[in-house]
Amino acid sequence: MSEDINVSDNSVNAVDRPNETHKIIVTIDGPAGAGKSTVARAAAKRIGLPYLDTGALYRGVAWRMNKDGINADEGSLMSEVLTTFKLEQRNGKLFADGVDITSHIRTPEIDRLVSVYAARPEVRNALVDLQRSQAVNGLVADGRDMGTVVFPEAELKIFLTASAEERARRRCDERIARGEKNVNYDEVLRQVIERDRYDMEREIAPLRPAQGCIILDTTDMSIEEVIDAVTSLAKEFMRQ
Ligand code: CDP
Repeated sequence: MSEDINVSDNSVNAVDRPNETHKIIVTIDGPAGAGKSTVARAAAKRIGLPYLDTGALYRGVAWRMNKDGINADEGSLMSEVLTTFKLEQRNGKLFADGVDITSHIRTPEIDRLVSVYAARPEVRNALVDLQRSQAVNGLVADGRDMGTVVFPEAELKIFLTASAEERARRRCDERIARGEKNVNYDEVLRQVIERDRYDMEREIAPLRPAQGCIILDTTDMSIEEVIDAVTSLAKEFMRQ
């Protein structure tokens, strides 16, 4: 995705796509650490569709609110910030008002805060419109509510999951690979379970499998096997 995404842009309320078979929408939802971003990014590249990482957008908003000292119960202050706040995803990086914040959004602090901001209607409304505006040429989008709320008309909807223990292990490996020290498995497992509970129990757009989705339990699959499975499913739909 190369164009600017302005979180205040709510001009697009529905996806208006040209009727071309290769411009399909693929949604990948699921709990924390299921491998959605890795799978969605790789599958999008193989299929030749843009990739939208909606978790990064929610993380970008949480980063900004936290930086400004705005709590999740301060709705009007949040709305004020969101009217001018500009997020842009480019080459796998996230820019906030032109500044690269990629290394600031996947920290333990943002992990802890993001779901609380993501449960707020002010934040969800701003980001849902923004996400829909990105789908004109088809896309692969991953998150929590892609198949249920944002793109219920998607050609292919996948719910990616794995046991909490396996997801915590993957999240620990990711952090160690990023060079983090003192990664504690029990603490990561506790946070993964807590964030899932928060995302599943919220009132707006709770995490759950979309109607008509394909559920992929990846506990005993390698990431390559999951990418292959998603890619071949998408190619089937592109041929239809
Ligand atoms: O990568 P991981 O699964 O840990 O999380 P993420 O996809 O980066 O999403 C971070 C958080 O943003 C989630 O725990 C949700 O609270 C929120 N989120 C959401 O509410 N809706 C989305 N479509 C995507 C993320």
